[in-house]
Formats: sequence, structure tokens, C-alpha cells
Amino acid sequence: MIRLGKLEKRFGDQLVLADIDIEIAEGGVTALIGPSGSGKSTLLRCVNLLEMPQRGSLRLGEEVLEFRPGTAPSRAGVHAMRLASGMVFQNFQLFPHRTVVENVMESLLTVHRWQREPARERALALLDKVGMRHKADAWPATLSGGQQQRVAIARALAPSPRVLLCDEPTSALDPELAGEVVDVLAQLAREGMTMLMATHDLRLAAAIAHEVVFLDGGRVVEAGTARDIFTRPRQARTAAFVASLSETLPESWSI
Ligand SMILES: Nc1ncnc2c1ncn2[C@@H]1O[C@H](COP(=O)(O)OP(=O)(O)O)[C@@H](O)[C@H]1O
Ligand SMILES: [Mg+2]
Repeated sequence: MIRLGKLEKRFGDQLVLADIDIEIAEGGVTALIGPSGSGKSTLLRCVNLLEMPQRGSLRLGEEVLEFRPGTAPSRAGVHAMRLASGMVFQNFQLFPHRTVVENVMESLLTVHRWQREPARERALALLDKVGMRHKADAWPATLSGGQQQRVAIARALAPSPRVLLCDEPTSALDPELAGEVVDVLAQLAREGMTMLMATHDLRLAAAIAHEVVFLDGGRVVEAGTARDIFTRPRQARTAAFVASLSETLPESWSI
């Protein structure tokens, strides 16, 4: 399970995340929605400690870190927390000078000190899972965006993270290519992968999220099932935001 408790993040004087309480059970999928600048990426980056929160607590499985201004969490704790999550970015961020399979093997070799052969085997198995094994020896630049993102998902899964963090995984893709990435994420969700995902795509959220959290101004405004948040929001800000994205809702859910 993953739990953020009263998490707070500032950049200088700017309070970017305040009082964030989110809990995701093992195998749960939570979608983060909210306007641009509401803090979605920062929240994801705080979970894998690309950004350090100033206050609050973070739990991933058995790893727990507490944050207080003026004290840094232990390096061992930070390292363990980072290993517990994998991140998928909007723009894939594959290593351009490594082949597809080498991209997926990279962290196993450098961080986890696997031997080449077992690392390659695991990478090929993951590429199979995302339908990209046939491109194992291709260069990232020769792939479509949807293919690159599927490779990026395999790469994030390589070290068996407890949670997969996805930051707008489909928003750089045409609808058709987004579909193949949604299919892969939906498959992972069915297999019980715990996920926290920022997205503007309400269809993606509706398809796979058990819970939707609406962030605005760095605060959780409202949380609930996709159906409740998209069709029966309690807060006016949520309703306005959902209405602004209603063209991405499944047709049968139109509001
Ligand atoms: N590294 C940074 N330094 C200073 N401000 C930042 C940094 N990263 C994000 N911010 C600010 O934090 C706020 C939230 O940004 P972000 O998390 O990117 O929102 P979202 O992903 O929801 O669009 C914005 O006001 C943004 O300008
Ligand atoms: Mg963002």
C-alpha cells in the first residue's frame, strides 16, 4: 500500500502541495486530475523523491519516511523509497543511444547489479508483455510515440516496483496511439499493479482508476470513484473542471 500523510511541498515561498492525504491499497489504481499547475507532477515527483517534501509522511509498502523542515531523511531511507516506485513520463524519456532492450535492462544492470543475461531475459519478457519484443533491437527514435511509451512502461517495471507512477502517460500521443498505451495500463491494472497516475484523459481514468482525486491549487478538493467524480461531483470546482474536459469522457457518461 501507499500512503501520503499531510504531505507538503514548497518551492521557495510558493506552497505547491498542502495537506495531501492519499491512500492507495495494494493493487489499487488512483488517477490524479486537475488543472495545469495544480501540483499533479510535483505530487508524483514527491512520491519517488525526485522532489523532497518539507512536511508530512510517505509510506510505500514497509518503507516509511517522515519529513520535517530542517531535517533531511536518511540516505538509506530515500534510496529504499526510490527503489519502490517506477515512473513513466509524458515524453517517454528513453535513452536515445541505447536500443529498446538496453533501455529496459539499464536499471537492472546499473542499480541492481544483475548479470547481463538474466537482465536481458527479464527485459525481453517485459517487452513481450507490452507487445514490443519484436522491436527489442530497434533504436527509440525509429518507434512511434505509443511504442516508445510502451517501452518506457516496460523499463519502469523492470525492477519490480511496488507502485507505478505515470505522469500524463498518453497526453503526448494521438488518440489512436494513446489507445495502445491505455490497453497496456489497463492490463497492468487487471494484473494488480498498484498505480498512481496523473492524466487529463478522463476516458483513461474512467477505464482503469478505482479512485479519482481532483487537485486544485495544490490541495485535494474531492476524491471518489470515477463515476462519482465525473457525473456527480460535489464541489463546484470539480464540476467546472470535469465539464471543461467532457469531450474526453466515455460517451455513455456524458454530463
Ligand atoms: N522545480 C520547480 N521550481 C519552482 N516551481 C515549480 C517547480 N516545479 C513546479 N513548480 C510549480 O509548482 C506548481 C505545480 O506544478 P506541477 O506540479 O507541474 O503542476 P501540474 O503537473 O498539475 O501541471 C506550479 O505553480 C509550478 O510552476
Ligand atoms: Mg504536470
